[in-house]
Amino acid sequence: MSNIQFIRNQNPKPKPKSDELKFGTIFTDHMFVMDYSVEKGWHDPRIVPYGPISLEPSTMVFHYGQAIFEGLKAYRNIKGEVVTFRPMDNIARLNRSAERLCIPQVDQELLWEGLKMLLEIEKDWVPAAEGTALYIRPFIIATDPYLGVRPSHTYKLFIILSPVGAYYTEGFKPVKIYVTDKYVRAARGGLGYTKAAANYAASLYAAEEAKKKGYTQVLWLDACHHRYVEEVGTMNIFFKIDGVVVTPSLEGGSILPGITRDSVITLARSMGYKVEERLISIEEVFEAHEKGKLEEVFGTGTAAVISPVGELNWNDRVIKINDGQMGEFSKLMYDKLTGIQYGREEDKFNWVK
Ligand code: COI
Repeated sequence: MSNIQFIRNQNPKPKPKSDELKFGTIFTDHMFVMDYSVEKGWHDPRIVPYGPISLEPSTMVFHYGQAIFEGLKAYRNIKGEVVTFRPMDNIARLNRSAERLCIPQVDQELLWEGLKMLLEIEKDWVPAAEGTALYIRPFIIATDPYLGVRPSHTYKLFIILSPVGAYYTEGFKPVKIYVTDKYVRAARGGLGYTKAAANYAASLYAAEEAKKKGYTQVLWLDACHHRYVEEVGTMNIFFKIDGVVVTPSLEGGSILPGITRDSVITLARSMGYKVEERLISIEEVFEAHEKGKLEEVFGTGTAAVISPVGELNWNDRVIKINDGQMGEFSKLMYDKLTGIQYGREEDKFNWVK
C-alpha cells in the first residue's frame, strides 16, 4: 500500500444534473497529482482540491509540447456501483506514450491505486443517466523551467475527472466526415500511436477547415500515399463491406491503438463476424459504395463510444451511408459495449474493474 496523501476540498461544488451533461466542461472537486525528479523518481502522490496550478512561463511543456494524456471512463452500473473499463490497458498505453516522448515510466500499480482512491472520493460525481459517465483524464507534462531543447528532468502527472454526456453535439446521430488528402495527422516513425498532445494540435487546422465546409470531423489518410485510411478525428474507424468488418491495421505505427477499437474487434469476432485489420484505401471505400456493398461506417473511441458516420466527402465526391441512419452492426456493437460497461451484459472478457 503506497502512501497517497489526501487533502479534502473544503468548498465542494454542486453536482450537475446528469441529463444535461455536455463533454468536458465540468470538473470534480479533487485531482490526483504526482511529481517526478531525477533524484526522487515519481514521488509525493497525493489527492488535492481541483484548481489552478502555478508554473513558470519558461516551463518546457509550453514551448516544446512534451505532454501526453489518456482517456478512460468510470460508469455507474445498473446496480449503482462505480466501475471502470479496461483501465490497465489505458495505464499501459500511457507508459508506451511516455517512452516515445522521453517521459519516465510510471508505476502502473501506483497509478491504478491512485485512480481507485480518487474515484472512491468522487463517487457521487459519477452520473447515472443513460449515455453518461465520469471521464477520467490522466496526463503528464514536462515542468523544467528551461528553453533548451531536450527532455525535461522534472514532470507532473495529474488525473482530473469530468462528468460527461455525448462527445458530439449530434449525440448518436450519424456524423458527416470530410476526407482530407491535403493534411496528414501522423507519419510512420512519428507519434501517431501515442496520445501525445501534439497529435491533437496537429489535427486542428484540417478539422477547422472541415467544419467551415459543414463537416464534423476529418478522415485522415496515410502520410506517404495520401490513399490509405488511418483514423477519423479523435476516433478509430471501421467499415462494414459486404458482410465483412474492416478496420485499418496498426502495423505502421501511425494510428492510435484504441481500446474501444480493440474491444469492438474482440466482441465482433466472438460473435462470429469476420474482422479484417488491413490496409484499406479510400478508393476501395468509394468503390464499395458504388457497388452497393458499403453497409456501415463508424468511429470508435472512449469519448465518442461508437459514432456512426452518415456521410463522407472526398474531393467533393459525396456518399451517404446507410441512408444517414445508424447501421445494425454499429448499433449491436454500441449495445454490447455499453451493456458490458453498465452491467447489463455478461463481462465475458473480464474488462470491467
Ligand atoms: C478519447 O476518446 O478518450 C479521447 O482521447 C479523445 C479526446 C481527445 C476527446
